[in-house]
Parts: sequence; C-alpha cells; structure tokens
Amino acid sequence: MNAPHRAPSGHGAFPAARPRRLRTTPALRRMVAEHRTRPSDLVLPAFVREGISDPVPVSSMPGVVQHTRDTLRKAAVEAVEAGVGGLMLFGVPLVKDAVGSQGTDPDGILQQALRDVRSEVGDDLVLMSDLCLDEFTDHGHCGVLDAQGRVDNDATLERYAEMARVQADAGAHMLGPSGMMDGQVGHARAALDAAGHTDVALFAYTAKYSSAFYGPFREAVASSLKGDRKTYQQDPAGNAREARRELSLDLAEGADMVMVKPGLPYLDILRDFAGSTDVPVGVYQISGEYAMVEAAAEKGWIDRDAAILETLTSFTRAGASVILTYWAVEAAKLLRAQR
Ligand code: PBG
Repeated sequence: MNAPHRAPSGHGAFPAARPRRLRTTPALRRMVAEHRTRPSDLVLPAFVREGISDPVPVSSMPGVVQHTRDTLRKAAVEAVEAGVGGLMLFGVPLVKDAVGSQGTDPDGILQQALRDVRSEVGDDLVLMSDLCLDEFTDHGHCGVLDAQGRVDNDATLERYAEMARVQADAGAHMLGPSGMMDGQVGHARAALDAAGHTDVALFAYTAKYSSAFYGPFREAVASSLKGDRKTYQQDPAGNAREARRELSLDLAEGADMVMVKPGLPYLDILRDFAGSTDVPVGVYQISGEYAMVEAAAEKGWIDRDAAILETLTSFTRAGASVILTYWAVEAAKLLRAQR
C-alpha cells in the first residue's frame, strides 16, 4: 500500500524548498508582503444631481447615491477624514440637450458642485471632474452628433475645450477626459493653457473599453443612451498595441496621468502601461465591478470586505498608483484598520 506522506523512492524524502515556510504566521506574511494599497491612492467617484432635496439611491449600486449639493459637501469632508486621495465628480443636470449645454454653463450643476467642494475642503484632496458630454446630452453620447447621427469627433473637441475651461474656473485640480475622442487631451491642454490654467492637470482615460460593466453607471447619471459607444471606446478583443498607441498619443498631447478602465477585466493592459510609461498609471474599478461584488455579498456568497480589498490589491500589484473606486471611503477605513 502506498503511504501518501512518503516521497516515492528515488526522490529526496523532503522537499528542498518549502515556500509555505514564509506563510506560517501573520507576522511573517506581513513582513514579506510587497503590495499594500494606501488610502491616498484611492479616488472616490461621486454623482451630484440638480434639483433634488434628498440624496437618491442608485438601485443597481447599493450604498451609492446621487448627491444633493449639500450631501456632496459632507461626503467630501468624510473622504478627507478617511484619508482618501481624491474625488472624481459627475454632474446630473435637470435638463439635457443635443450639445450638452449644461456641461459648459458656468452655473451648471457640475461647476456649482466643484465650487462647493473646493470651498469646503480646499486642497485637502485632489478634486477631479469628468470631462465628457454624456451626462449632459439627451442622446447620451459622449460627443455631439453630425447630420447622420454619428458622433462628430472634431466638433466634440470644441465642446470639450470649453468644458475644460469652465471646470478649471470652477476649481477642479485635475480633469478626466473620458470621451475617447481623438485629440481630446491635446485640445483640453491647449484650452487650459490659453485660459491661464497651466497647473490644472489631465488624467486621461487612455485605454477605455466598450464594456458591459458600465451598466449601473447609466442609471447613476440618468443616461438616455440608445445604442452603444463602440465607435469610440475600444473593443475588448482589439489588439493590445492599440492601447499602447492611445498611450503614446495621450502622452504626446500632454497627459499628466493615464488610466485604464474598467479594472479587473483589463489587468493585462494595466500591467503593460505600468511597465512602459513614466507617468502615474491609474485604474477605474467601474460600476458593474462594484455591483457584482455587492450583489454576491448580499446573497452571502462571498466575504464582501475581503473581496473588496483583494480587488484593490490586484490593481496595486499590477502597477496602479491611483485607483478610482466607489468603495474609496470604506476601503480607506478597512486599510487603516489593517495591521
Ligand atoms: C463617461 C464615463 C462613463 C463612466 C465614467 N465616465 C460612462 C461610459 O463610458 O459609458 C463609467 C463609470 C462606471 O461605470 O462606473 N462620462
């Protein structure tokens, strides 16, 4: 009979190397751990909606709300207290139209909210705003349409330039061009510089994929999008060099930081960027990634907090120095509680 604890004859009786040895105690595991996400790496994406007097829960994202201007201020203070690094703001206007007028109105909801938050927390966190039209257009696309109903790249760039100016005027430290229009980074940079906003940085959504995981976000910004974004967002099956090409273009156009989005399905791209560029690389853990974990946890199928921290660790391990996540505040607290 075979004794399972015995090495077969002809082999050494004991393994020469035992990787398990360094996993023996929590103290050993902590000592050899190489990857630890820091609260200051985290950015909280937040929604502010015009014309509401109480926050409105986003049903597909349990725990996430559309803020009033007032509750957003409080959320910003809470984020600072938790040690979160930044806030990425999205505006949900009362009125949407074909060109997304509210996105460039100095008194549009996003601009008002930027002023609110900046006056509330100053420079205690990095205040970012979404530089995109989809929250403001009645057709839900990230740009303006031409006569045939296609997204008009260059006409959209003009809108982004104006948007960049008003967001910077309103107090954003950093803008996130997220529409995947060609030339968007360079256009925003030129507009900012011409307006004297040379210190306002650009966090480019460089490799942004046309993803099924954006679903819950569409509810969060009350999107009226019909169709899809496949003519401007990247194809998940597209070649990985396409992402590299976007990266070189964004860097040449003046991107200060670059982003990969979504997160978990694109860790390969994140790793690739982190190893091939000298600017900080960020990742956006998007609405559907959040919803999946929350839904499974609600059913009791996974350990929620452990799953959250594991996803963040995977981003850090892949090379992200900035992580946008709807769990930012909670995760910052969890990370601080860890030894
Ligand atoms: C575009 C934008 C989107 C998200 C962030 N910026 C929507 C999209 O590209 O369809 C999605 C974020 C998320 O799903 O959490 N303004």
